[in-house]
Amino acid sequence: MPECVINKRAKLIAQEMVSKAREEITFDNKKKLNLIWVEANGCSGNIISFLNADSPSATYFLTEVVNLKYTNSLMLAQGEKAILELNEAMKEEYALIIDGAIATKDNGVYTFTGNLDGRLINNMEEVRMTADKAKYILAVGNCASFGGISAASPNPSGSISAQEFLKDKKVINLPGCPCHPDWLMGTVANLILFGEPELDNYNRPLLFYSNTIHDFCERRSFFNNGIFAKSVGEQGCMFKIGCRGPVTRVDCPVRKWNERVSWPVEDNTPCIGCAQLGFPDLMEPFVAMD
Ligand code: SF4
Ligand code: F3S
Repeated sequence: MPECVINKRAKLIAQEMVSKAREEITFDNKKKLNLIWVEANGCSGNIISFLNADSPSATYFLTEVVNLKYTNSLMLAQGEKAILELNEAMKEEYALIIDGAIATKDNGVYTFTGNLDGRLINNMEEVRMTADKAKYILAVGNCASFGGISAASPNPSGSISAQEFLKDKKVINLPGCPCHPDWLMGTVANLILFGEPELDNYNRPLLFYSNTIHDFCERRSFFNNGIFAKSVGEQGCMFKIGCRGPVTRVDCPVRKWNERVSWPVEDNTPCIGCAQLGFPDLMEPFVAMD
């Protein structure tokens, strides 16, 4: 298949899947998926990234395709009322979104996520409780998928990935710092239409994580011809100043970010491997110049 056709397909996958899911829901062939979005030890960047969705918009997705039953950042209820709503939501079928790593040191005291009857609930308790009843579990972003920045050395909170914490469960990983809204919406649409998507050996959906950045990078011809940039901003492949595109598996060059305006290499910075296992510790230094 020609590269331009592959690129077009990759861009459209999420949008088409969401449209198809919405159509099937409209005709009562499928049901909207209930979502519970738990924020553990992270920065809330993934929910902000989701709100930036444009194909379709977050509003469309939330009104037409899913029922977002619980989310620390977006729901109106606060404190005990929020946890009571969570308990209600857990009585129905749902997919769990885990956002952030799980802080485990000192029995989870570094990340409290709620309170009930005067008792604080930490991220370990909330994730375990919601995971036990979930039909599907999605780890959104690099922290939930692989530990990410939350687990970076020296990792004072003892943070670990959702899969490390939930050893007895299957966790679908959607790494990225943050997760692109298309990777999340496309995967959720796939769950509605077909169930669990095909995954790689790190439990990432092949729909979005099957190629490296390097495979479709617009500077690949520079790499192939041995033309390398010596500093950020120069023309040429950025491999010799630290680009992690050859080892980072996701589709940024064809999907792009921020309403498809651009992506890191197009903006003259190397890929720092934000979607890859080992980010950030194993991806440093992000830029290496003499
Ligand atoms: Fe590969 Fe990075 Fe060079 Fe692009 S800039 S060709 S991703 S090494
Ligand atoms: Fe991250 Fe590299 Fe894409 S830094 S946003 S995986 S180009």
